Amino acid sequence: MMFLDLIRQRRSIRKYTDREIEAEKIEQLKEAALRSPSSMGHNPWEFVFITDSQLLNSLSTAKPHGAGFLAGAKLGIVVCADPEKSTVWIEDASIATTYIQLAAESLGLGSCWIQIRERMHSDGKPAEAYIAELLNIPANLKIESMVGIGYSAEQKAPHAREKLQDEKIFLNRYGSRFPSP
Ligand SMILES: Cc1cc2nc3c(=O)[nH]c(=O)nc-3n(C[C@H](O)[C@H](O)[C@H](O)COP(=O)(O)O)c2cc1C
Repeated sequence: MMFLDLIRQRRSIRKYTDREIEAEKIEQLKEAALRSPSSMGHNPWEFVFITDSQLLNSLSTAKPHGAGFLAGAKLGIVVCADPEKSTVWIEDASIATTYIQLAAESLGLGSCWIQIRERMHSDGKPAEAYIAELLNIPANLKIESMVGIGYSAEQKAPHAREKLQDEKIFLNRYGSRFPSP
């Protein structure tokens, strides 16, 4: 599939069927994560793939809102990075998260980002600390995100071209518009 067609059809998918994700597809998701570009090639990221349904259940309570759907996913991926390895680890981990989502889409899988950095599990306990404890993630790693993945059980229309925010794009100087095509 052409890249533009892929991003045209991609939507965040939070409902999944019971169908298991084939091992080859999980292999391809691993490859996509590891092919993510990073600043100076420092590759500060590390990934925890979770297929255990009990762990997915526990991870779905990492924060009070926006993570519950992970309980219904067949795969969760926790994206971590080591700030000692790169000053721009947030960018690197975010690119890796996006690579994973786009690879999932290209494999016919639905996915959704779950923000973890800067989010709280409960009063006084960051979502990161909750996840690190649950998965034995070492203290040198920060957690940027999780991705929930599975075969989609919901239909979502692509965002219509005419609804995209063309007013946010300028030509040559801020405020200067592209001529109408
Ligand atoms: C940085 C980032 C963090 C996000 N965090 C969450 C989240 O914690 N929970 C969630 O359900 N969706 C999350 N999303 C998904 C967005 O809500 C979604 O991408 C947005 O509403 C646009 O919808 P679409 O992806 O279907 O185009 C996140 C997306 C991004 C890029």
